[in-house]
Amino acid sequence: MEHSLIRAEAALAPKPAHVPDDLVRDFDMARCADTGDVHRYWKEEVQDRLPDIFWTPHHGGHWVATRAADILAIQRDPGLFSNGEFVIPRGIVPKLIPLQLDPPRHTAYRRLFMPFFVPRALTDIEARARAVAIELIEGLRPRGECEFIGDFAGVMPIVAFLTMMHLPHDDLAMLRERATLASKPHFEGSAQAWEDLSAYIRDCIAARRAQPGTDPVSAMLQAEVDGERLSDDDVFSMCLLLLTGGLDTVATMIGFIAHYLATHPELQAQLREDPARIPDAVQEFVRRLGISNLGRLVTRDAAYRGIAFARDDMILLPMPLVGLDDRLNADPMDFMLDRSERHYSTFGVGPHACPGKVLAQREMTIFLQEWLTRLPPFRLKAGAPPVFTSSLINSVEALHLSW
Ligand code: HEM
Repeated sequence: MEHSLIRAEAALAPKPAHVPDDLVRDFDMARCADTGDVHRYWKEEVQDRLPDIFWTPHHGGHWVATRAADILAIQRDPGLFSNGEFVIPRGIVPKLIPLQLDPPRHTAYRRLFMPFFVPRALTDIEARARAVAIELIEGLRPRGECEFIGDFAGVMPIVAFLTMMHLPHDDLAMLRERATLASKPHFEGSAQAWEDLSAYIRDCIAARRAQPGTDPVSAMLQAEVDGERLSDDDVFSMCLLLLTGGLDTVATMIGFIAHYLATHPELQAQLREDPARIPDAVQEFVRRLGISNLGRLVTRDAAYRGIAFARDDMILLPMPLVGLDDRLNADPMDFMLDRSERHYSTFGVGPHACPGKVLAQREMTIFLQEWLTRLPPFRLKAGAPPVFTSSLINSVEALHLSW
């Protein structure tokens, strides 16, 4: 898929008076993928070289926290660091509930979500996702090559969403294309994709209102918070989050895993020989290949670790840097199946910790189990280098594999 990157942020934000000169750096998160190894760049050029917390004039001007301790502490302090704005630059995605609410209101809405994610609710999704994965892989096998993101990684999470929401599987292709674009606010076409997804969900809500079922949308339409039924806008916002939260995230994580395996044949061989190690591999991939670079909005003038933050400042939390911080994980750039403990924030911590974590990990496991048993050793296709980007998420745009 062709995208043109919007570099419209040429005008850098002026430095606010409360930001000290020695904490200003010319850092643009969209450039972290330029070297082709986005995790190494974040680790070695950002975490290891830049201050623990610094300010950059890019993307509207924002702080960046680079070390695990701060990225974790800030997530656990929603009173000072609000989720009201969680994307940098701010204001470019529609409101998502409960992601953009803070406790205590957040807690009431989040509770409504949890029944959709308990393990037994995931059994159907897992079976369907596995069946689709097998079908896709068997179709790809004779070709000897594929563009992994479009041909495989993007498909399984959409099947999961459609199954969870009791929606027709015919909608798969349309959703896949729109969701990929929508999740990349730095790309042209993102705004239109959000509109298309919104129209799709509003149609679904109207249909469930007319004819309720046993699906999550019908359940949300019946639910109450503080004794009041949710509005259509609230239900819309929650559905949009269920849709977008689990699509490109899973697709891109599976993409990073496939890229890692394609460039580490010895790990492929080890997992083929001993598939019982796949769950450990999933845990290690989750630590080593995190993706989300999320923001927080400062709610009041306050000092944090000696830095004077002002109300309305934005701070970027690159979640992958928790797993890559050697103050928490020994030799963090090494992939080690036998780590005795792992620390990461790939799925967030604190009130907003990802409810889709178990589902996402099951999808990664299904991918590894089915791909490694059904296909011979694979590698990057010669002459077709992978394409990575870095913004709201570190992402794999294109990954050509051959076998
Ligand atoms: C590898 C895949 C995934 C990653 C890396 C991921 C990452 C995250 C992160 C970091 C957060 C916390 C956001 C914050 O603190 O501001 C989050 C929240 C959330 N995720 Fe995921 N996620 C993944 C898969 C999924 C899936 C499969 C679903 C659902 C189908 C999902 C639904 C959600 C929802 C609803 C929230 C908001 C929770 C709240 O605000 O209380 N995610 N996710």
